[in-house]
Amino acid sequence: MSFAAVDLEPKIIDVEGAEELGEPIRTIEFKDVFFTYPNTSIKVLNGISFKVSGGEFLGVMGHTGAGKTTILKLLMRYYTPDSGQVLVNGRPIAPTLPLIPSVKQWAS
Ligand SMILES: Nc1ncnc2c1ncn2[C@@H]1O[C@H](COP(=O)(O)OP(=O)(O)OP(=O)(O)O)[C@@H](O)[C@H]1O
Ligand SMILES: [Mg+2]
Repeated sequence: MSFAAVDLEPKIIDVEGAEELGEPIRTIEFKDVFFTYPNTSIKVLNGISFKVSGGEFLGVMGHTGAGKTTILKLLMRYYTPDSGQVLVNGRPIAPTLPLIPSVKQWAS
């Protein structure tokens, strides 16, 4: 007997030697990020760039399906950008940093 979900191998894994962030999150930056969901053709993010520092607020506006939640999914490493970089404290989150527990708490 097999369990389809349990048997899935995660596609996003930390590289060997990945470093813990080991410090509070000070900045979050998207640099020219492009993303299309696997097996689809809609280009959801087309060169998104922003930088936000602790204590600042960033408002993201867009119609339903514009890609707002997708930005958070990439930050949480549920998906990997097709190109561009996501940086925390100036360090690329993939593949050099493991999944960031404190970022995952923001998911709700
Ligand atoms: N898992 C997925 N697989 C394929 N396409 C997806 C997936 N999740 C979202 N999409 C598509 O990606 C686009 C962006 O979706 P996203 O959820 O980021 O929009 P949103 O701006 O958060 O919308 P809303 O205001 O409704 O919350 C939409 O066209 C959506 O249909
Ligand atoms: Mg949303």
